[in-house]
Amino acid sequence: MRRKIVAGNWKMNLTLKEAKELSESLAQNINSNTTATDVILCTPFVFLPQTMEIVKNTSIKVGAQNCSRFAQGAYTGEVSAKMLQSVGVNYVIIGHSERREYFNESSLQITGKIKQALAHEITPIFCCGEPLQERTSNTHIDFVTQQLNEVFSSLTPEEIAKLIIAYEPIWAIGTGETASPEQAQEMHATIRKILVNYLDEDAAQKISILYGGSVKGSNAKELFANQDIDGGLVGGASLDPEDFLKIIGSF
Ligand code: PGA
Repeated sequence: MRRKIVAGNWKMNLTLKEAKELSESLAQNINSNTTATDVILCTPFVFLPQTMEIVKNTSIKVGAQNCSRFAQGAYTGEVSAKMLQSVGVNYVIIGHSERREYFNESSLQITGKIKQALAHEITPIFCCGEPLQERTSNTHIDFVTQQLNEVFSSLTPEEIAKLIIAYEPIWAIGTGETASPEQAQEMHATIRKILVNYLDEDAAQKISILYGGSVKGSNAKELFANQDIDGGLVGGASLDPEDFLKIIGSF
């Protein structure tokens, strides 16, 4: 059985006080029956220790949204995987389309970040997904296949087996437009097929593949009902405790 996962990506939102209120609300209202689902809050770096303290007696886990591809040293402004490990972080989002677009992150850099995270026992949530023009010209499968191959070809099977993958079509992120369950399932099945080129069938079947892009309480159930959709990476709706809890309860 694959793990069901709902990860919240807070992005660059909230103040310390607002982050406290949101995590307290989730910690108080998370249903202990949802232990079959991993719930991960990916917060800005500065909120990580506070969030971990607030959720420590619950099943909620905490992740970061980025880490450095360098181990340590003179890299002003960077946060290393070792630092994240030292505060107890277990997950990190890597290769989000916003980082690829606004910070020019390449597959080479993304691979370095994944290796740093894994070397420090942090599970990467590795993101892929096509822009609108690839979808409308029907080249979305080729585009995502290339994104994955560029990274997987530099990882060992053992490293790939430890990833969580998030498929996030860029045209669906923050737009209110969601991929249809059929569109998402098609890509998730493709991603699993690509995994079989690197791993044995059994290991490929164990990897959780999350869908991201305008997931809400109102559409999560029909997305999560698909065979290869193992949960969601949730942006906007993860800032609303009521809607986020509804998504968590949508399996
Ligand atoms: P969204 O963001 O849910 O606001 O579309 C998802 C993401 O970018 O991870």
